[in-house]
Amino acid sequence: MPYRILFLLVSLSLASLSACGPDPEDDAQPVCPECPGEPTDPLITGPSVATDYELEIAEYMPRPILDEDNPLTREGIELGRRLFYDKIMGRDSAFACADCHRQERAFTDGRTLAVGVDGREGRRNAMSLVNLVFNGSGFNWDGSSVKLWEQAVHPVENMFEMDEDWANVLERIRGSDDYPQRFRATYGIDRRSEITQELVVKAIAQFESTIISADSHFDRVFFKNTEFFTEEEQLGADSLFFVENVPVGALHPGCGHCHNAPSFGDNRFKNNGLDDVASLDDFRDKGFGAVSGSKFDNGKFRTPTLRNIALTAPYMHDGRFTTLAEVVEHYADGGHGVENEDPNITGFPLTERKKRALVAFLNSLTDEGLLTDPRFSDPFE
Ligand code: HEC
Ligand code: HEC
Repeated sequence: MPYRILFLLVSLSLASLSACGPDPEDDAQPVCPECPGEPTDPLITGPSVATDYELEIAEYMPRPILDEDNPLTREGIELGRRLFYDKIMGRDSAFACADCHRQERAFTDGRTLAVGVDGREGRRNAMSLVNLVFNGSGFNWDGSSVKLWEQAVHPVENMFEMDEDWANVLERIRGSDDYPQRFRATYGIDRRSEITQELVVKAIAQFESTIISADSHFDRVFFKNTEFFTEEEQLGADSLFFVENVPVGALHPGCGHCHNAPSFGDNRFKNNGLDDVASLDDFRDKGFGAVSGSKFDNGKFRTPTLRNIALTAPYMHDGRFTTLAEVVEHYADGGHGVENEDPNITGFPLTERKKRALVAFLNSLTDEGLLTDPRFSDPFE
């Protein structure tokens, strides 16, 4: 009998035999440790010692923030990649993380607001997943998940995303022909019942941590000296983006105050002047304020990386801008004077030429290799 069916039968008979063992809801427990005569949870065979993995990071990038509770291993990364692309993670085995985080769009979805199971629209724009390993400020637009692996719990159960019970996801993974061996190879477990939500999300986070983007035209010009900027890109870089050469008091786009190289996003929570609200209580999406509990943080969002920004439209936490030109015009307008707007949102004079230069510079941040890198691609294709 294929194990999957056997497993289902065991769980069904358990559900009706209350005298026998643990609550089937409790995923940390063996299927039925004490049931005499029940064919429970046989040993998983195969290798059980994982191989350490060291991230390779260009020397001009920041140092990674590694999670001691989730060391990277070759087996863990590959397992996480599979789970990330596998539709068994979603309701009716029909929705994967990768449906909203698509490699060819630098792991975004091209939509204003994310769309989950049954076409349900969420309240925020899907984020890019590059260079997460450099972020120490918490994940999501509002920093609501402290650790990367904690983040992965939510999309599965969020009704606007994958809308599935973790118990069902675990049952499918434990009953699979392939995953139990991979969990054993990664975590050294002996039995299918030892596959827990925590091990699943930790593997996903391992995979996500390896998605590093650091080879754009900008990097080849600036750090590797193997390419040159066009005049327009150079204008965008020198006089518009970087802030070192700006005379004190001059009005300047100053993007680099918050989106500084080499990460192009300092991950701090700021109000970059999007909403004209009468008081700090009036932001439609409170952002970081809902996490910190401080009213002064309402309307602040994490400053994301601008790497691959040409591929990740629409822009901002609610996807309100369709093009980079619109984004630049927003910053040139200089916000709305709301109390907690960042002082670096000053507004600045913008000619058509400067606008084009700034957009040309932003376009130089695309890492073309990322989009087809086989390490990050769909393993089921
Ligand atoms: C329906 C589309 C959708 C699905 C499916 C989805 N995400 Fe997301 N993802 C989003 C949205 C929207 C955000 C921003 C959430 C927020 O700020 O509240 C996000 C944010 C993230 C972030 C935070 C990135 C950062 O820089 O902070 C990570 C990591 C992530 N998703 C991983 C995953 C994983 C892993 C899965 C599968 C378990 C998944 N996502 C499934 C839409 C989706
Ligand atoms: C005061 C800090 C600050 C400055 C200065 C700043 N930004 Fe931002 N930027 C942010 C924050 C915070 C966000 C996220 C806001 C949100 O989504 O609500 C953001 C978001 C963006 C986004 C959207 C990113 C995405 O993934 O959707 C783009 C593009 C962008 N900024 C470009 C620029 C450019 C170009 C400049 C200079 C003209 C600039 N920024 C100046 C803080 C800043």
